[in-house]
Amino acid sequence: MAEDLINNKDILYFPSYLGTNDKLITLLNRASQTLCDWFSKADKNGPLPFDENFKCIMPAEDGNSEEDLFSEIESLLNNSFNPVHPGSLAHLDPPPLIFSILGDLIAAGLNNNLLAYELSPSVTLLEESLCKWFAKKIGFNDQSGGIAASGGTLSNLNALIAARNNAGLATNPNSVLLVSEDAHSSFVKCMRVMGLDTTNLVRIKTDNEGRMDINDLRKSLDKCTVENKKIFAIVATLGTTVRGAIDPIKEISEICKERNIWLHIDGSIGGIFAITSIPIKGLNNINQANSITINPQKIIGITKTSSLLLVSNMSTLENTFNTGLPYISSKENIINRGEIGIQGSRPAEVIKLWLGLRFLGLKGIENVLKTSIKRKDFFIKNISKNKFDIYSGPLHIVSFLPKKLEPKDSDAWTQTKVNELIKNNFMLSRPKFKGKYFLRVVMGNYNTKESHIKELLRLLDA
Ligand SMILES: Cc1ncc(COP(=O)(O)O)c(C=O)c1O
Repeated sequence: MAEDLINNKDILYFPSYLGTNDKLITLLNRASQTLCDWFSKADKNGPLPFDENFKCIMPAEDGNSEEDLFSEIESLLNNSFNPVHPGSLAHLDPPPLIFSILGDLIAAGLNNNLLAYELSPSVTLLEESLCKWFAKKIGFNDQSGGIAASGGTLSNLNALIAARNNAGLATNPNSVLLVSEDAHSSFVKCMRVMGLDTTNLVRIKTDNEGRMDINDLRKSLDKCTVENKKIFAIVATLGTTVRGAIDPIKEISEICKERNIWLHIDGSIGGIFAITSIPIKGLNNINQANSITINPQKIIGITKTSSLLLVSNMSTLENTFNTGLPYISSKENIINRGEIGIQGSRPAEVIKLWLGLRFLGLKGIENVLKTSIKRKDFFIKNISKNKFDIYSGPLHIVSFLPKKLEPKDSDAWTQTKVNELIKNNFMLSRPKFKGKYFLRVVMGNYNTKESHIKELLRLLDA
């Protein structure tokens, strides 16, 4: 018999379709052990990398041994930010949910592609069903649905492109978007991607609680009319990045209805609260929107990336993004997911969202969210009001600065404070906001207990 054309007997490159894949199981177990060891190293080392020896070695002529690779995996982990540490309070990057970690593993092994049903039959149906479930939970009707994307920026971009297309302004250079001055910087990026510039992004003032000022919105709308600018959407932010403020959604939605303008809600931070019964001031009427971004990676620990765009009418996504996929088969009544958003090939990120949510259940989701608000409340209640000006809304984010600090001194003060805090294993961020630097604490870390917050407050007071 002729030699096998392809000699694949000796080296394990891919899972085998035969036998038990013992070798793969051994490697997976070792990888799991390495990861879990790293989680627990945070206890001693804090949230920041503790070993600066990671060398970024590039592939060589011959493949590396398992031993080499495991030693480099360990080095990579030791040089990484560790979100599991209770002092990790800087950003919207909470510890990973255990069942989301499993979901990522399964998605990687499946290697299915959300581009098309034939490449991901079960996960296509799962993503469609989960989007519909979310859409119903927030009060959308039967025509609603959604699409997952790799992060809040892309979900917002999907929404804005659909909104502009829906308004018949896809090629109009006079088309404008209205957002509050505290809206996320990704809207600037979205405008660039859409072939527009900063003059097409109209910024509406915020009030002293960080919410879009409705009078200024009305004035800006009138000004747009006078200047013959065509508005394709207004964005209401449900949880601003620096202080967690919620724009007045009810009033904005009424204005959008009056003037027939697409309302997009950027709920990247606060949207997930809408599927719970937690009372959050200002979180109402969100089902009046045409689209809403919900980004569960930011607060309940679904592993990155995990973001959904929900739309009140699925046909708006189909009309915007469907080009036909000439090399892909289609199945009656099933939409290929690559035809309703800007991404083509996409991993089965929905698995970690689905497993994470099923693992928590609605009670678990509420518990994670409620505790983040409790931590924030505890922090605000106990921080010295004589010493600090505090900026916070109904969500779990607090920015603060010493009273009477000159704007020019805020850079140096926050930098010194961040350095001092990290020596004590507390990682806070220092956003630049309205011309000054602030210290910001994001209370979404489930491992952070009251004792940690007390210690943080003590250090801030020192
Ligand atoms: C309010 C808001 N919108 C959008 C985004 C962008 O999300 P992502 O980084 O997942 O693209 C962020 C990021 O923090 C955000 O805070």
